[in-house]
Amino acid sequence: MSHEQWTAVDRYFTDLLVPSDPALDAALEANAAAGLPPIDVTPNQGKLLHLLARIQGARTILEIGTLGGYSTIWLARALPAGGRLITLESAPKHAEVARANIERAGLSDIVEIRLGQALDTLSQLDAEEQGPFDLIFIDADKPNNPEYFKWALKLSRRGTMIIADNVVRKGVVIDEASTDPNIQGIRRFNELLAAEPRVSATAIQTVGSKGYDGFAIILVTESNDSLS
Ligand code: SAH
Ligand code: DHB
Ligand code: MG
Repeated sequence: MSHEQWTAVDRYFTDLLVPSDPALDAALEANAAAGLPPIDVTPNQGKLLHLLARIQGARTILEIGTLGGYSTIWLARALPAGGRLITLESAPKHAEVARANIERAGLSDIVEIRLGQALDTLSQLDAEEQGPFDLIFIDADKPNNPEYFKWALKLSRRGTMIIADNVVRKGVVIDEASTDPNIQGIRRFNELLAAEPRVSATAIQTVGSKGYDGFAIILVTESNDSLS
């Protein structure tokens, strides 16, 4: 099986099930024009996030890692009237491109972009008592994934869904001797999930136009009152 084939199958499903959309297409074009790395979720992955948010009945969403706001738009469109999404980004240029993309999608009133290191903005959100969130998407710098998971739990309630992107990394995740800080971060994150009695989690490998990677899906099973 080749990357070419995975891409062709992604195109097949996307053509059938993920109608092209002016605001999402324009976001990807604006990202490319601004020189952002093309590491957004794919269209069919974006729709998966959207469907999961709807299945969850999410009214409040937290995203860690905005880039140009492509996944943000998919997630924000799953919110009911009165819903809100906060997305965290450290690169001013990424946040600026995302702001324009989100504005073009008509989502500026629903989406708040917080500029800064996520470890700082997460601590701010906690201090402001912005949680608990119904759904949290972790997709920023992978070495900090263990810390992001701890914060996500803190900003959760019983029933919160936490999703993490890029937990497979071409399969390198199983290399316990890897010195790559991304792999070490993801492995430590996976170990935290395994050891955490307040969640139930799984991970799924994916192939597609973005190559071979995967998602972790985590359900918080105990209320935050017992989280301490
Ligand atoms: N969720 C996006 C992709 C995010 S890419 C999508 O699918 O469309 C990861 C993003 O995390 C990048 O924009 C990067 O600048 C940002 N990032 C990296 N380190 C960060 C940090 N410490 N705090 C906040 N954002 C960070
Ligand atoms: C990278 C980051 C991502 O969030 C992703 O989906 C793919 C690649 C990266 O940093 O290489
Ligand atoms: Mg990602």
